Amino acid sequence: MKKGIIAFSILLLATSCSDKTAGTVAEVEAALPTAELTQGKAIYEKKCHRCHKLKVIDNYSAEAWNNILPAMAKKAKLEATDEALVKGYVTWELAN
Ligand code: HEC
Repeated sequence: MKKGIIAFSILLLATSCSDKTAGTVAEVEAALPTAELTQGKAIYEKKCHRCHKLKVIDNYSAEAWNNILPAMAKKAKLEATDEALVKGYVTWELAN
């Protein structure tokens, strides 16, 4: 009986571990620290490639983004709240 319980526990451990590693690449990439960042990234990826390919955030300095983002947010017709979420995401991405 004891052996059965131990075997069952090992099985549980094994399956709970494999659950953690079974995520797809997309899920791993989406694992940003906050919901706001995840939202900001989603808006960025959805709204910012209509006129050009998605720009690599790290290719521009924080200073450059301060000028670029308000202009592009206007082009992409982002709501102020969406622009703030994208700005949060860009700022986080530059720091990480
Ligand atoms: C209505 C069209 C349009 C939309 C939507 C748009 N852009 Fe742009 N963007 C442009 C054009 C035109 C340029 C200049 C040509 C280029 O670099 O491809 C540009 C250039 C850029 C650049 C390079 C700026 C530089 O000085 O080199 C960045 C970064 C950028 N866009 C970011 C964004 C982001 C972020 C969004 C979403 C919020 C966005 N764009 C949405 C039209 C757009």
